[in-house]
Amino acid sequence: MGRVLAALLVLTRADGRPSEVLCPATGRRERCTAHDVPGAQARAPPAGLETRALPRAFDWNAVEVAWRQRLSLTTTDLNQHIPTYCGSCWAHAAASTLADRLKIQLFRSAAHGALPEASGRSRDIIPSVQALINCGDAGSCYGGDSLAAFAWIHRVGGLPDVTCQQYQARNVYNASSPECASGEALCHTCAIDFATRTSTCAAVRAYTRIGVASFGTVDAEPDIMAEVHARGPVACHINASCLEGADHDSAGVWNYRCAGHNHVIQLAGWGEGADGTRYWIARNSWGTFWADHGWFRVRRDPPFAWSPAEFGCNWAEPFIAEPAAVAVAR
Ligand SMILES: *[C@@H]1O[C@H](CO)[C@@H](O)[C@H](O)[C@H]1NC(C)=O
Ligand SMILES: *[C@@H]1O[C@H](CO)[C@@H](O)[C@H](O)[C@H]1NC(C)=O
Repeated sequence: MGRVLAALLVLTRADGRPSEVLCPATGRRERCTAHDVPGAQARAPPAGLETRALPRAFDWNAVEVAWRQRLSLTTTDLNQHIPTYCGSCWAHAAASTLADRLKIQLFRSAAHGALPEASGRSRDIIPSVQALINCGDAGSCYGGDSLAAFAWIHRVGGLPDVTCQQYQARNVYNASSPECASGEALCHTCAIDFATRTSTCAAVRAYTRIGVASFGTVDAEPDIMAEVHARGPVACHINASCLEGADHDSAGVWNYRCAGHNHVIQLAGWGEGADGTRYWIARNSWGTFWADHGWFRVRRDPPFAWSPAEFGCNWAEPFIAEPAAVAVAR
């Protein structure tokens, strides 16, 4: 009996992890291809994103900005699993990718002396993952797809930031909910009636949006590296079963012994250890108490290597869209 139970447990451990990868267009537990998502560009990065002369090590957490000066151009870390377990890795990887790329764009503007006039634009802008889950038509806490998320943001003109809609880790609404049409599921705030002490909430209409100018897939390893190096992190697919336990070397580089994909993470660079071990640098969305402050390095070379090219990555070029009527009551 004990042995049967143990065997059963092993089986469920192997196959029981719910996949967080789901393409809404096909309903399959596979990544959406560019063919599945209208408007997606399936190609190598545009001309000018050179695959030649890529550095041996590159990390958006430590970008060389001047002689002997390094700066992190990544934004805050997130945890998809609070206040309750939620399979929204696809939304987290998409949101962090947009946020980091906005920060990179801002840094590049600043380097040319062109910081935005509105002071709020010169800080990190964190997209609302919950708004994406609520109305994004790209997935839920039962899985989804970052390419479909970028496509929806592109189509509707932008995603609110986190001050419009805090993360709840729940499927509160779906794309056909009236609250998505009214805007309440996207951006809302609450007011109190002082006499009755009741709080009532309503949609906010004028808010800064995080738009997507273009988006697509990038699947060959040199193209993925060129895309990350030129424009910022990308969302890639991995098997989360190989990001558990302590299967890493003394320098903390994970061995990867998995096949398949059930999880989306963010790829932000690559590097090489003192012993020549090459690795990828990536961000997970399981909190900063996980692995290296929420980040991990995983082997690039066999044996036990992961490749972002195996299941491919998604990119998007974000922009900031201010509300038409920015001079609303404050
Ligand atoms: C979407 O939400 C509406 C209520 O807002 C509900 O009636 C409908 O069944 C939901 N659809 C799906 C696919 O969950
Ligand atoms: C992930 O890897 C584990 C361990 O090798 C395996 O049991 C599982 O089937 C893999 N998941 C997918 C979706 O391929």
